[in-house]
Amino acid sequence: MHRIAPSILSADFARLGEEVRSVIAAGADWIHFDVMDNHYVPNLTMGSMVAKAIKPWCVRADGSEIPLDVHLMVEPVDALASAFAEAGANLISFHPEASAHVDRTLQLIRGAGCQAGLVFNPATPLDVLEWVIDKVDLVLIMSVNPGFGGQSFLDSALRKTEQARRLIEASGRDIQLEVDGGIKVDNIRRVASAGADCFVAGSAIFGQPDYRKVIDAMRAELVGVS
Ligand code: DX5
Ligand code: ZN
Repeated sequence: MHRIAPSILSADFARLGEEVRSVIAAGADWIHFDVMDNHYVPNLTMGSMVAKAIKPWCVRADGSEIPLDVHLMVEPVDALASAFAEAGANLISFHPEASAHVDRTLQLIRGAGCQAGLVFNPATPLDVLEWVIDKVDLVLIMSVNPGFGGQSFLDSALRKTEQARRLIEASGRDIQLEVDGGIKVDNIRRVASAGADCFVAGSAIFGQPDYRKVIDAMRAELVGVS
């Protein structure tokens, strides 16, 4: 099962609700919500009030819910994780470097009724997974340095995705493996072949006039990749 998670970082912020609705109509599986604090990363984006405002837009035409996938690029993590859980996030991911107590933060997110994810920067090893994999619902591999949309995909993420896939299989747990940064129609197949099942794409989708055309082209690339 492959999921496409458009990042609204590249959407038109003046029309965010409509942008969310359009990208869902175009076939989005999740809405990826990038939170940057000008501290952990050198950029400033959206807070929990914005998440709360777009939450009612995260539904398909038939009324079914589209998960809100919150990617926290903030330090410290805990207070904001709680605020996003309260705002209606379904998944909340954070960078282990940004939390003094990773295990505690994972418990906090799950205790608030959300799925918990750990995010690995291009230069961050997967080591912590060994100790907390029983509390993780999602592993997110960064294929760019976090902070900005529109950067080029770093090939080192492919090997890390393969490594994460092996760890997930060995755990026997149902953990989703997402990759974020620089994903386009022309490289999504390689990312899937490395073992990813969720694909974040910001500029590739919102940078084009026809969102459905891009998402359909991405899905066509995924056909036959298990
Ligand atoms: C980067 C963000 C990404 C970003 C992806 O820090 O975490 O989610 O929006 O944008 P593209 O697809 O343009 O690289
Ligand atoms: Zn992201």
